[in-house]
Amino acid sequence: MTSTTLSIVSELAEIVGPANVLTDPDVTAGYVTDWTGHWSGHTEAVVRPGSTAEVSAVLTACHRHGLRVVPQGGNTGLVGGSIPMDGEIVLSTRRLTTIERVDVVDRTLAAGAGVIVAQAQEAARQHGLDLGVDLASRDSATLGGIVSTNAGGIRMIKNGNTRRQLLGIEAVLSDGRVVTRWKELVKDNVGYDLPGLLAGAEGTLAVITRVLMRLVIPAPRTQVSLVAVTTVSDALQLVDRLERAGLTLEAAELMTRPGIDLVRRHHDLRAPLDVDSPFLLLAEVSGQRDTQALLLDVLEQAGESVLDAAVEEGPAPKLWRYRESHTESISAESSTPPVKLDLSTPLREVEQFLTTLTPALAENFPDVRAICFGHVGDGNLHVNLLDVKETERERVTDFVLRHVTQHGGSISAEHGVGRAKAPWLALGRSPEDINLMKSIRAAIDPAGLLNPHILPIR
Ligand code: FAD
Ligand code: MLT
Ligand code: ZN
Repeated sequence: MTSTTLSIVSELAEIVGPANVLTDPDVTAGYVTDWTGHWSGHTEAVVRPGSTAEVSAVLTACHRHGLRVVPQGGNTGLVGGSIPMDGEIVLSTRRLTTIERVDVVDRTLAAGAGVIVAQAQEAARQHGLDLGVDLASRDSATLGGIVSTNAGGIRMIKNGNTRRQLLGIEAVLSDGRVVTRWKELVKDNVGYDLPGLLAGAEGTLAVITRVLMRLVIPAPRTQVSLVAVTTVSDALQLVDRLERAGLTLEAAELMTRPGIDLVRRHHDLRAPLDVDSPFLLLAEVSGQRDTQALLLDVLEQAGESVLDAAVEEGPAPKLWRYRESHTESISAESSTPPVKLDLSTPLREVEQFLTTLTPALAENFPDVRAICFGHVGDGNLHVNLLDVKETERERVTDFVLRHVTQHGGSISAEHGVGRAKAPWLALGRSPEDINLMKSIRAAIDPAGLLNPHILPIR
């Protein structure tokens, strides 16, 4: 450790207590490598403040020393954004775990940024409400993390993204100033939408310490159907039919045959349906009454486009296992950390995008296996590339990101830019747009100390 590091470590220890400044590499190991195992960095210190005042004091000290800081929540992000790639200090929010209040009249939850998503869901459910966001990383991801990445997840089709669930925020700027916008109002048009700006900022503008989330009324009963179809268009048409029949879509997820086979191998699951089809749609629906009868009616009327279907009633239907086990199974299967691309296209382009991508990949990268799945109802597909050699990662990423751009799509539908997409920002945004983002960043964090590599100012 250099003398500067030694002095900052003791200064940080005075603020948060020595037990909350981690410097032993064996202990900090879990904070310097990401969930996929691909993004790995190093740090001299992980600091774990327990209150907004402590976050403010920590950032004030780092600012004085000109030290760069990476905020980290549950470290489940899939784009390397929470990793100290260049020896930054890691500011972990995992001690900001207070659930302050659930308000049943205004349907809000006030909580610390380090509260785990599943715990926030549980707190809301005890009052007959629910968080509007759900995702397979719910047992580790934090509220601050889902806000900072503006996470999508499986309920996005019904409730919208995390930004839409965010009513208020408390955050600390890189120089230690605390900013609070906290009103339990759904209508409040006084000036710029600061919570909306911090949502999706990926820790480049401030460290979020507390959040005020909107809650939703959960559907009393849901029906889950797993449907075998031949094309993506058939799947999307079925989604459309379900909505037109008056059913509420709770989720609409696409899987492919290779993905299902892989999940079955890793989880020892039996075939979910009697037919082998190229695609499977998992649609969860709710309705006022006779939901199952209505669902079966729609499946019947869809005629030959439905090759086979299974239907199960909630809560906790087992059919979801085929979908939710994809991420883990892909990581376990690939000989190298998978290249994870999280893309979206307009709905009218999804079929064309996917059917042209697969043969193009096979022709240009014959050793790479592609598993595609995702939130098809939102036009969001996760393209996961397995067995990619380290020397090929950049080329294959470039290939797929250019392909999705040609289809009018986004290079990041829900996971964010992070380190993974930073070199391709110009594919997703115009030069004027990027410059404006940099100006906003420069106004709020002029020294560029927070998460410097995601959107460098210079
Ligand atoms: P981290 O990974 O710790 O951080 C993510 C980013 O946010 C980093 O840039 C970090 O610097 C910043 N950050 C974290 N906390 C703060 C804070 N308090 N203040 C400022 N910046 C902060 N994502 C989806 O969108 N949809 C999905 O369906 C989905 N499913 C997933 C399933 C699995 C199995 C896994 C492993 C991941 C999944 N993800 C999904 C990705 C990930 O869970 C989300 O991006 C999640 O929002 C990250 O939360 P986290 O607390 O782990 O944040
Ligand atoms: C999901 O929808 O399961 C995720 O976003 C995770 C992934 O892309 O693997
Ligand atoms: Zn997803």
